[in-house]
Amino acid sequence: MSEESVSVSLGTRLEGSRVILRAPKTTDLAELRALLIRNADHLRPWSPSPPPGTNPVGFAEMGRSIARHRRDWKAGMAYVFVTLLRVPREPIVGRVALTSVTRGPFQSAQVGYWIDAGHVGRGLMSEAVNLALRFAFERLRLHRLQAAVMPNNDASRHILSTRGFRQEGYAERYLRIAGKWEDHVLYGLTLEDWRSASVASREPSDRGESDRPLTESSVEPPPMSV
Ligand SMILES: CC(C)(COP(=O)(O)OP(=O)(O)OC[C@H]1O[C@@H](n2cnc3c(N)ncnc32)[C@H](O)[C@@H]1OP(=O)(O)O)[C@@H](O)C(=O)NCCC(=O)NCCS
Repeated sequence: MSEESVSVSLGTRLEGSRVILRAPKTTDLAELRALLIRNADHLRPWSPSPPPGTNPVGFAEMGRSIARHRRDWKAGMAYVFVTLLRVPREPIVGRVALTSVTRGPFQSAQVGYWIDAGHVGRGLMSEAVNLALRFAFERLRLHRLQAAVMPNNDASRHILSTRGFRQEGYAERYLRIAGKWEDHVLYGLTLEDWRSASVASREPSDRGESDRPLTESSVEPPPMSV
């Protein structure tokens, strides 16, 4: 971890009014795997192709990826969150990730997200992204977030633009999605943009997720078994 990195407990929970974000645990494996299998058709058109010869929903592969997410979190390199519904038993319904965290003069990360097909259109990802942006700017003290979206992903582009992300460019054949190199629209959001967008969107009486404290558990969860 570089000197500028911020130490964040793996027990951190970001709590909104309807969703909670936390780091994935080994014990999530079966639930996450079932969610990914159930959503394969929903996610395939928008998700980077897995490396040839790998099975991203195999038990071993998923165990390794959860372990990697937790290692990267501790190293301050990436913060992958599972999105839980704020209801009893807290089912996992998606993921929000801050990856490629770069310090030095850049102080930047890449944002990505997805949600269960059964929960789209309820405003849940908007709330989850709000929590992640606040975490990135206030807790990690980053200065810039970037996102890349396929031009026809209207829902995702809407989420970004309504959060203050600016369209900064168009990259041809940017990512291999479902086996094909796809063009992407590139978005960026600086701390200054985010502050203006947050102030502009907040009503005086609004006590939504943006006003809740970012709660952190003081107890580190037990080490992973893989
Ligand atoms: C993109 C995705 C994360 C959106 O999640 P969600 O929980 O349905 O999003 P929300 O309900 O919070 O917000 C969606 C917003 O987009 C708007 N929207 C939805 N479809 C739209 C369309 N075709 N055109 C314009 N806006 C659209 C909704 O009205 C809503 O805006 P509002 O809050 O102002 O009403 C979800 O559809 C998903 O997981 N897709 C597959 C994976 C993916 O595309 N990930 C992103 C890769 S960049």
